[in-house]
Parts: sequence; structure tokens; C-alpha cells
Amino acid sequence: MSNINYRKGTGELENWLIEESVFDMRYLGKCESVFCQGNGYMGIRNALEESYVTETRNMFVSGTFNKFHETEVTELPNLPDITNITILINKRPFSLTEGKILHYERTLNLKNGEVVRKAEWESAEGVRIRFVFSRIVSLSDKHAVGIQAAVTPLSDDIEVEIISGIDGTVTNSGAQHMVEGEKRLYDGVYLEYISETSESGIPVAAYAAHKFQMQDGKAEIKYLPIIDRRQIKLSASLQIPKKQTVIIEKLAAVHTGRDVELLNGQVTDKKELEQQIKEKGQAHIRLLLENGYEVLKKENDAAWAKFWEEQDIIIETENSFDQLAIRFALYHLNIMVNKEDKRVGIGAKALSGEGYKGHSFWDTEVFLLPYYLYTQPEVARNLLEYRYMGLVGARKKAKEYGYEGAMYPWEAAWIDDGEVTPLYGPADVVTGKPLKYWTGLIEQHISADIAFAVWQYYLAAGDEEFMNRCGYEMIFDTARFWLSRLEWNEEEKQYEINDVIGPDEYKEHVNNNVYTNYLAHYNILLAGRLYDELKQSTEEGKAESFKRLEKQLMLEKMREDIELKADKLYLPKPDEKSGIIPQFDGYFDLEYLDISKFKESTQVLTIYKELSQEQINQYQIAKQGDLVVLLYLLEDLFDEETKRKNYLYYEERTLHDSSLSKSTHSIVASDLGMSGQAYEFYEGSCKVDLGEEMTSSDAGIHSASMGGIWQAAIQGFGGVRMAQDGLRIAPSMPEKCKKLSFPLHFKKAVLHITVTHDKLTIQNKGKTVRVNVKGKEVELKEGLVYEC
Ligand code: IFM
Repeated sequence: MSNINYRKGTGELENWLIEESVFDMRYLGKCESVFCQGNGYMGIRNALEESYVTETRNMFVSGTFNKFHETEVTELPNLPDITNITILINKRPFSLTEGKILHYERTLNLKNGEVVRKAEWESAEGVRIRFVFSRIVSLSDKHAVGIQAAVTPLSDDIEVEIISGIDGTVTNSGAQHMVEGEKRLYDGVYLEYISETSESGIPVAAYAAHKFQMQDGKAEIKYLPIIDRRQIKLSASLQIPKKQTVIIEKLAAVHTGRDVELLNGQVTDKKELEQQIKEKGQAHIRLLLENGYEVLKKENDAAWAKFWEEQDIIIETENSFDQLAIRFALYHLNIMVNKEDKRVGIGAKALSGEGYKGHSFWDTEVFLLPYYLYTQPEVARNLLEYRYMGLVGARKKAKEYGYEGAMYPWEAAWIDDGEVTPLYGPADVVTGKPLKYWTGLIEQHISADIAFAVWQYYLAAGDEEFMNRCGYEMIFDTARFWLSRLEWNEEEKQYEINDVIGPDEYKEHVNNNVYTNYLAHYNILLAGRLYDELKQSTEEGKAESFKRLEKQLMLEKMREDIELKADKLYLPKPDEKSGIIPQFDGYFDLEYLDISKFKESTQVLTIYKELSQEQINQYQIAKQGDLVVLLYLLEDLFDEETKRKNYLYYEERTLHDSSLSKSTHSIVASDLGMSGQAYEFYEGSCKVDLGEEMTSSDAGIHSASMGGIWQAAIQGFGGVRMAQDGLRIAPSMPEKCKKLSFPLHFKKAVLHITVTHDKLTIQNKGKTVRVNVKGKEVELKEGLVYEC
């Protein structure tokens, strides 16, 4: 049963609206996450204005990481809430759990990011009232939030009290990150709430102000300020005659000591920082209130219109849900990244929930970066700069483990935090103890994933400056890590990488995981090749970069090690008889288990209800495609037959319990011309958050799956791939997909590509580039329309 309607939009809004059509307290988490609003600087879950016990009310500002206690890991704190509005009708709180709901709809408009909720409700005393709530988190003014509530009594005159303001009692599942500071009401209108993160000492200044307007212009309102522990609010009492509408506007502003614009002033003193954000906030809230909701919305709408003009993708299939889903992905891809700030990554749940604590994983480089790389290369660059700054933490981790170079943390928070993966997770059904998370200790492929992403960025953007300043250093230092990490097996006369977790997290403590070994090998070889190129280069930037890094990273020794070790690193090969590549040592000795019953479930991770992690380790069961990601990333290493066999073999054993799994399967199926499966898996990735499962998004949306939807469409159906020798476009359209149209940036070219079953059209609105189109090298001239 789903409470979500995907066909709400008609006319100009067709395939732009997602509607929650039934209010059900049990499933508030779904739309809180799916309807999350934001702008990359901040993200606000769409918890309703009035409170419910089953809600999770979250507001996050990117980069404001804090450690609640030394026994816990750094996380993104839930900041004081500015969205709550309590409405008392004839002295009883308005709540959809009481009385009767006569009509209910809550709609996210992807076109402008506005959420509108309409409810017609009859109180327990039989009073009928219409409510219309509208909310935006502005895309044009990153610190601003606007809420508008229209209340119309339909059956009787009513007495209304509105209690609204700023609530600092919020926590991250009980962890209170904020130390309360000053609370003040200015001019009887402007509410100010200052607090500070308890350990990282980041000041946060939140503001709110209200406006009331009666339809007939006459509103007599009694105001009362409320200051209480961790909150500052305003109570406003008024009478609303039957059939008259009162419009309440709540404008809010948030500024923090981590705001990137403060860097220009180079403020380091905490008091001065607080003073600066207070000044900004106070001026801001005055302006917001003066302008009101409609002005904020107009500017927000214009920013979204510009985004869609540049970014919209058209996908025409038999199922209009596919079109809506890709827009949904683009919407979240636009609000999950702080485009102005290089010091922050993207959380696995973005800014939409407490899940994964705001931490960044390999999700960013492997699943999200391709989208930014091909649509907004400057954003991809910023994300890689975040990892460049993260070298501090990566080097710290390598040292702690006795390795050299840069060993990137599996989970990353603030740039110099290093590893922040928690050590324990949910219950193990057999032992009854919390599951130990081994990922932070032994899931290590992320270092190679980052090196891979750096090189993809260079190939696609041709950004020499970035490579000279950051890229070479990242590739060399990750290679140094791997070289020090390799273990010599005297018996086999080969180097190995033992005791790791590959992308398939259902298998812990494995030796020679195929993905890890191949990616590490790629990283090492790439470093060797770039070393040789840099050493001989007379280009100023490269020569300088070489000079800077040569001693700092002991590059000569790195080069010697590469010579010595690279060819001897064991890379699992296809079994001679079956053609299957073992996922790790001893894989074929594991028992086969029929997992169809788990696969059929709409819920993920159901296997944990029957088996412990240790038991899962004993079977040929994968959480996500391990080898399949390899077939996608390093496609040139395997022939088609090997790819096909391995794809089929491992898919049968994969539960797709990770939100990252289906999209990669879709791409590889497209590569193999298995268009039926490619389409099915595309739809599967679209349903990770939009599907009928009502609780799987409770902790936040799955960011990587948003990138995955784009990947499956553009890299899978559209056949776009950054091969080592240039961009390749070789569409593989599923039968059910009639047309795919998308923008693509490559070097200085801005391509507009339209694919149908019988025609490929590329219009180049940027500079001339050479591209491989359907196996043929073509020059796409500036302004040219190419068809084939
Ligand atoms: O990075 C992923 C991992 O591959 C599977 N578990 C969830 C992580 C965050 O999305």
C-alpha cells in the first residue's frame, strides 16, 4: 500500500508533482525525507508544522560537524528547529490524529521545490477548518526559509492561538549537540536564538519572524513572547470569523560560524564570529519579513527555473513515472551539494536525515560524481577538493594503521577528522549484541575509488590546474598507501590484499577481493604512468608539481616500488571452465543459497531477520554487485563474454540490499545489450526512495541512488562513458524507452544529446571537441548539430 501519488501533475505540471495523498502517522518518515527541501547549504526534512510523536524533525547545515561525546563519532548536528507551528483552535491543538480528516494532500513541486499541504479537517467538537501550508527553503537565498499558512474556518467563528518560533530542544536521536546561548526578541517581532556546537564550537544563529494578515484586512492580534529552556517563541491570539482566511507567514534565517562567506574575512575568533553571524542574521530577518513569503518564493522560483532550463532530462517511456523519477533525482542532486563550499562533501543521506550521520562514503566518487562531472564540472572539482583537503585525515589514518601515503576514511565528516565510521551498529539477530562495523577498519577500496574519480575528472574536464595543485598528489599518495598495504605471499610468489571488505558488505574479512585488488592495481599503474609523464614534462605547471611532490612523497621510491610490485599483484582471473571470476579467495567453496524469497521482498536487509552476519559470510550471497561495479568502472579489462557470464552469475546471488546496487546492474545490463533487465533495474533504482516501501527512507533519502538513477539513464541507456582515450557515446536504449534527451558537458563543449531508437542527435553549444560516437571518431564543431 502506498500513500504516494505520482500522477498528480497535469498540464504544465505533468511529471513534476509528488503527492502524499493520505495522512498516516506511521509513515511520516517517508515524505519527511522524500520531500526534504534545501539548497546544499541547508537541508530541512519535511516534518509537518504541527508536531507528531512519530516525526523526525531535522534541519542540517552542511559542514557544522560536532562530536557529542568522546565515545561517539562526529556527526552533523540537528540544529534548532524553525519550522514548528502549533495551532490551537478554541484552545485545543490542531492535530490530524484527532477529529476527522475530510481532505488531505501534501505535494512536492519539483519545478520550484515548494511543498504545499492542504487539509480540510473537522475538530473533535465538529468545527470544520481548511488549512493550506506552503513551505520553501530558498534556492536563491541559501540562509532563508519561508512558511505560509492559510487558515479558514468553514463552519464556525473560531478562536486561534499560534505558537511559533525557534526550538532548540531537538536532538540527534537523543544526542544534544548544541549549547544554548542568547535568546532575544527584538522590536517585539524578531526572534533570535544563538547556540553553539558543544565540541567543535561552531556558533549558530537562528532567526524567525511572523506576519499575520486577515482577508478583510482587520486582524486584532494579542502577542506574547515565550522564552523557555532552549526555546524562544511567540504566541499570537486572534479571532477568525467563519469563511474568513487568516494568512500567517513565518520567515526564518540561519547563519553559522562555518559559513563559507565568512572565510573571506578570515575570522577565527569565536566571539567575533558569533558577532558577525548575528549582524548578518539580524539584517537578514528584517529584510525577509519586509519582503514576505511571496517575494522569497519568486526569487526561489527563478533560481529553480534556471536550474531546470540547464539540467532537465527528458525520458519518454510507457510509464510516466520514469520521467518523474529522473526529475526527482535531479531535484535532490541539486539540493544535496553545497556548491560554494569546497570543505564539505555529500552525506550518504545528504541533508535529509540523521542516517549515516552526515558522513560521506565512496558513494560520492563512484555514484554521484559522474552526474556533476558531466553537468556542472566545477561542482565535481569542489567535491574532489574536499577529498584533497581530506588528505590530512587520510594520512593520519594510514599512519595509525602502519601504512604510508593516504588511506582515505571509509566514512568522512569534517576535512581533518579522519576516520569517523562508528564501531557498532544494529542488533545481530543471533548473538543479540550490536553488530560490529568492520567497514571503517577494513573497507579500503575508497582510496582507489577517489584516485579513479580524480582521473575521470581530468579526462572529462581537462583541468590541468587542478591536477597540478591537487590531483597528482592524491593519485600518488593513494598509490603509496596501496604499495605499503600489499602483502607478499611467498608460496604463490605474488602480492595480495588480505582481510578486507569489498563493495559487497555481506562478506567480511576476505582475501583478494576482486574489486579492491583491481582498483588498487589501477591506482598504482596510474601513479606510475603519471610519474613518468610528470618527470619528463617541461610544462611549467607539471614540472612545478613534480618538484613540489618529489621529495614530499618520496616519489622515486614510489616508482621503484611500482616497478617491483605492480605486475606481481594478484588479480583474480576467470575460472578456466566456467569463466567466472571469484569475488575473493575461496568464493567457490561457499555454499549456494536460494535467495529468491528475500529478493522478492519489497523491504531490504530482511536476511538479517534470519541469519547472523557470520552465517551470511558462509553463503554465496551478496548485498550489492561487487564484481558488477568493477565491470562498469574498468570495462576495458574484460571481454563481452566474461562480462555477460559474470553479470548473470553474480546477479543471481545478489540481494540488491544496498541502494547502490540496482543502478550499476542497469548500466552493465545496458552495456551488454540486455535492455529488458537494464530497464527493470532502472525502475528498481527509481523505487529506492519513491517505491511503495514506506519506511526505508526514514533515516533520509539515499543520495547515491539519485546519482545511480542518472547513471543508469545517461551512462546506461545513453551509453556515455569516459574511456581512457576520450568520451564515448554509444546508446543502448531499452525497447520501452522511446526518447532520451539530456545535457552533457565535456571539456569546453556543452552537448545536447537526444537519443531515439533510430537516431542520435548531438548539438554542440560550446567549443569543438572530438568524441567517439557509436564507435566512430567524430569532431563535434562549435554550434554544429550532428546526426547519425
Ligand atoms: O557506501 C555504502 C555502502 O556501499 C553500502 N552501505 C551503505 C553505504 C552508504 O550508502
